[in-house]
Amino acid sequence: MTSGGSEPARPSGAGPRVVLGVSAGIAAYKVCELLRRLTESGHDVRVVPTADALRFVGEPTWAALSGHPVSTQVWDGVAGVPHVRLGQEADLVLVAPATADLLARAAHGLADDLLTNTLLTARCPVVFAPAMHTEMWEHPATRANVETLRSRGAIVVEPASGRLTGKDTGPGRLPDPAELFEVARRVLDRGARGAELDLAGRHVVVSAGGTREPLDPVRYLGNRSSGLQGYALARTAVARGATVTLVAGNVSLPDPAGAHVVPVGTAEEMREAVLAAAGDADAVVMAAAVADFRPADYRDSKIKKASGAEPEPIRLVKNPDILAELGRERRPGQVVVGFAAETDDVLANGRDKLARKGSDLLVVNQVGADLVFGRPDNAAVILGADGTSTEVPRGAKEALADVVWDLVAERCR
Ligand code: C5P
Repeated sequence: MTSGGSEPARPSGAGPRVVLGVSAGIAAYKVCELLRRLTESGHDVRVVPTADALRFVGEPTWAALSGHPVSTQVWDGVAGVPHVRLGQEADLVLVAPATADLLARAAHGLADDLLTNTLLTARCPVVFAPAMHTEMWEHPATRANVETLRSRGAIVVEPASGRLTGKDTGPGRLPDPAELFEVARRVLDRGARGAELDLAGRHVVVSAGGTREPLDPVRYLGNRSSGLQGYALARTAVARGATVTLVAGNVSLPDPAGAHVVPVGTAEEMREAVLAAAGDADAVVMAAAVADFRPADYRDSKIKKASGAEPEPIRLVKNPDILAELGRERRPGQVVVGFAAETDDVLANGRDKLARKGSDLLVVNQVGADLVFGRPDNAAVILGADGTSTEVPRGAKEALADVVWDLVAERCR
């Protein structure tokens, strides 16, 4: 199957070269949006569908959106040796959706169509975004194929959970195209810098956002954390090859592709979710703003203002300190990272906190009404229990996240 002959009139961009593999899942329709984002941001994309993928989205759509001819097999344009050239020349191969069958063929090194040939010749980063029914995703055969691909250096993005084709719900959905685009962008960026997938095979837990401690059914004590820094940590960890659990307290941001998101409300719920995920984790990064105290009494019905009477004081009790508990009870080799938001005596308070909490690293930043909360940028000093101190100048929260992972990767054993 081919859209025929020669290259299109549209000159190919000088941007990064991406091979977008598409296998035969219904989620192929979402990948048109991903393709659009890639081309509009200057990437030169060659779409390589499997033959059956064209049952879901036809060849003219891929050809028109990519500006390149589309072929599924090795017998078109043989003079250009496309089965070797596409993979060799790519800066990134991204397969979305990756079906159970495609994962199996890739894991076993089959080369029975253009996409599987391309996967064998690619020396650039390779990302698979699986999408299938939960039973197929959880089947031991698929699990083994995913492990094989990961052990060979591919990034296999965990599918999202939610409504699948038909009436069933569970893990197996293709992540949001905008979030898959973010994975592609970050992996390309790391590839261009020659950076390794240094978190491949690692499970990391990140907490993000802020907890809310209820007073009554409509009111709570909370804080101004947006979750942006924790989400940046999760996104960058996925692009470095990690399996990521993201424990999110009251965050209204889209789920990062590839992260397993566990939504929580209170500090106690966050503790339960973090400790459960930390059981087999190589690193835990507590970026969340956890309320130190919670109201001692929860009223089942809304607290009323009695006319003329003074309001009743709110009595508080201590919440568990999750970071300190992780510091005390971590599994051997686990790296524990805390955040310290300080308004005064930033460094002195940070050093003190690092010792008290028993963390390996503490990211210390100054907060204030117009600093850090809800902003896309951050600046910090990262203190190490080994006496090191790493200054991170003001920049994107993603840049700070990458420095955190650099320091974590050095310490993971
Ligand atoms: O003591 P402080 O709240 O400043 O410490 C901040 C660090 O401790 C953050 O990493 C935060 O996620 C963590 N923390 C926690 N449990 C608490 C309070 C803070 O894990 N109850």
